[in-house]
Parts: sequence; structure tokens; C-alpha cells
Amino acid sequence: MHTIDIDLVDMTLDVMKYAIDRISNVTPELGAPKKEEDLLRIVGETVTARGIGGEAAFKLFRDVLVKATVPIDHPRHLAFVPAAPTRAAIMFDLVTSASSIHGAYWMEGGGGIFCENQAMKWLVSLTGMPKGTFGVFTSGGTAANLSAIVAAREEWRSREEDHIGLKGLLITSDAAHSSVQAMAKVIDADMLMIHCEGDNLTGKELQATINKLEKKDRKRLFAVVATGGTTNAGIIDELDTIADVCGKENVWFHIDCAYGGGALAARSVRHLFNGIERADSVTIDPHKWLFSPYDCGAVIYKDMELAKNAHSQKGSYLEIFKDEGAHGFNPSEYQIQLTRRVRGMPLWFSLAMHGTDKYRVAIERGIELAQIAAKKIEDRPYLELVRPPSLSVVLYRRKGWTPDQYREWTYKNHRDGVALVTPTKWKTNGEFETVSRFCFINPDTTEKDIDVILDTME
Ligand SMILES: Cc1ncc(COP(=O)(O)O)c(C=O)c1O
Repeated sequence: MHTIDIDLVDMTLDVMKYAIDRISNVTPELGAPKKEEDLLRIVGETVTARGIGGEAAFKLFRDVLVKATVPIDHPRHLAFVPAAPTRAAIMFDLVTSASSIHGAYWMEGGGGIFCENQAMKWLVSLTGMPKGTFGVFTSGGTAANLSAIVAAREEWRSREEDHIGLKGLLITSDAAHSSVQAMAKVIDADMLMIHCEGDNLTGKELQATINKLEKKDRKRLFAVVATGGTTNAGIIDELDTIADVCGKENVWFHIDCAYGGGALAARSVRHLFNGIERADSVTIDPHKWLFSPYDCGAVIYKDMELAKNAHSQKGSYLEIFKDEGAHGFNPSEYQIQLTRRVRGMPLWFSLAMHGTDKYRVAIERGIELAQIAAKKIEDRPYLELVRPPSLSVVLYRRKGWTPDQYREWTYKNHRDGVALVTPTKWKTNGEFETVSRFCFINPDTTEKDIDVILDTME
């Protein structure tokens, strides 16, 4: 297994050929999952005492198993939050693995962490947060949100002795991503959700909510989580006024920009994020709108010492990493994970190769595609916009359709290899309605792709 022989050489060539073919294929097949029992019937048991050989295993993956997945970078994959990693970033992902770098501490990972930090410097500069602000790459937005709210909770607990043992409370809006609620559960905090009825959360609503808290609950309030680009509709909360309230109330201000963070680089919409520079922490997912391969999230903190107080692990076996002689930036001290892949390296390489201007152009294209799609929707009598596009998300309805018709349409288009576009729900006049949703990320999506999809709704 650890020796170099002809089988290893053959397998390596297969893998490299596959990787090159895959990243140069601009129209990958829109695969669809099969049932597990069907896959098992086709490929058989693959893990055996003697092994089935690299050639056979690779063939099964290439010819059967990968076809039972949906390529996230397909130009007509406009569901959920899709992705479109740059080819440079994908190739460098292979290099990241091949280099076997432990990304927890500078002592082992210094050169790789240097690359990550170069990319992080650019991300931080996009936020406009003050000197001293920095961050680390995480496995995704969920882990970044968790890391931030743990830092917030620990800061709150350290303030007053009677906060210790008290169950924390955080406030967010009902449009916040599901991971915020899930992570509040992980840290056993209570969550109060402000109903925004399809609008953005404002400082005024936040203040009114805080004013209504009973004294004992006000004491438990340790963080407010705003969203910089909601997953469902691309809406950005009123960050400036929320920052005012958080400042006045002395509450940690976290902004979840997991999806929308890429748009900080887009000059056409940057003003919508005004106030972000006053956050205590921010989540941005490079694996969404910054064209990084999975998995790559990021958490940014105004005060790195507070993050370190919350996350730094202690153990006699770890002391040497923190010794002056080994000292450098230790990413593990600022988020929940110890051993970690240097997952910011593919983003760094792609940024270094292409420069940040090309990123700005590619992100603006997503916003432009949303505007183009909106116009095409307005031009078709059987369709209508539910609301104007926000960032790169478009919500629209097929007049007269029932929820079942949206579902059937999604499955049919997927089955036919046309597109993956999924329905969502939107509250109109107090009632939830099933509607269709586009989320544009891939700059290679064409106007024709949009026409093809909309035409299937006629
Ligand atoms: C706003 C927002 N926050 C958090 C997440 C969770 O990120 P991840 O799936 O990378 O954990 C998402 C995912 O879509 C998101 O859109």
C-alpha cells in the first residue's frame, strides 16, 4: 500500500486523466442519484479483504458512481446555493492533499498557513473591519457560525460571574439560515427569532424586541446574528442600524454572510453591506460565491484574542506548538477544529494566479444574471416575479401552479438532464406560497440556459 509499483503508477494516471477531463468539460452530465440498493446491485461490494484493485475501483467510480451525483458546477444547476470552483483552485486542491500539510499549528503548517493568511487578508479587507481583525478557514458556514457564537458566549460568560452556568440567549431573524438554529442547539442556547415577513431585519425591530425582554432574559442575551444575504431570497439585514443597537446594548454582533459574502467584492452592491465593518464576527463561505472547492468556509473576528480565549485547546502534548520557538499563527486556536486541512490553499492559489479583479467580475456576473433572468420572467406572460432579485437570487411564480406542479417540474427537468431548479416557499399576504427560485453563482451560466429553463414552464 505504501510502496511505489506499476499498479500505483496506473492508478495515478487514471486519476490525473479523469481530473483533467473533468475540469475541462464545460457541460458535465447533470447526474442524478440512484437508490442505494440499485447502486449496490450494479457495483457490488467494493471493500473486500483482498481489495478489488485500483483500476476496477476507479472504473466503478468513473462509470457508475459519479454519475449518481449532481455536478454542483453545472451551468443549469441553480438550486440551493450552487458552486463553481475555478479550475486553478480545483487543481490546487489536489496539490493541497498531495502536500500532506497539518494545518492546525504554524510549527507544522507554516508555509501552507501563510498561503491561507494571504487569502484571508483579502477577505478581511472586503469587510472594512478595523485593524487587528483576522480570521481562519473552517469546514463551512455552519462551523464558522458555531465558532463565532461560541466566542460570543465565552466573552459574555467572562464578563460577570453570574453568567457562568446561565443558559445563553441569542436573537436572529426567521430568515436566518437553519445552521444558526442548529448551532444554538449544539451550544444549548435559546434562540429568539424575529419575524421579518419577507423583509430584512432592522435595528428598530431588534431594539423593540430587546426592550420587550424580561429582565432575566435580557441578562441571558449574548449575541445577535444578522444575515448578509439570506439563503432563500438574498436579502441583507439592515446592518448599520443593527450595529447601533448591538453597540448600545453591549451585545456581540455576528453577521452570517456565508452565501452573500462574495458580493462584498462586487462594487454594484457593496453599499448594501454598510455596517459590516462594525461586526464582532463574520462568516463567509469561499465554497459558495468565491469559487473555492468544498469544503471551505471562513470565520472573521474583530478581536482575535476573544476567539483564542474561547477555542485554544490545552494539553501537555500541545505545549510545544505554542512555544516561542515554534510560534506563528495557529489556526486551530480560533475555531472548533484541531487537526485541519489547509483548506484555504486552493482559494489562495486561484487568487494569486488570477488576481482579485477577475473575482470581482465573476461575482458581478452572478448579480447580472439575476437581473437578466428577472427581465426574462417579466417578458413571459405565464410567469411573474415574486419580488425583485436580491444579490443573485430570483424568486418567481408560474401563474396557476400548485405545489405538486412545481415539484413534478423539478423532477422532470432533473430526470431529463435539463436543469436542477428547486422550489421554495415565500410568505405572501401572511400565507406561505410555493414558488420557484434561481440562485446564480456560475459565471458560465448563459442567457440561453435561462431561456431553456423558463421555456419548460410554459
Ligand atoms: C446564509 C448561510 N449560512 C450558513 C450556511 C451553511 O453553510 P455550510 O453549508 O457551508 O455549512 C448556508 C448554506 O447555504 C447559508 O446560505
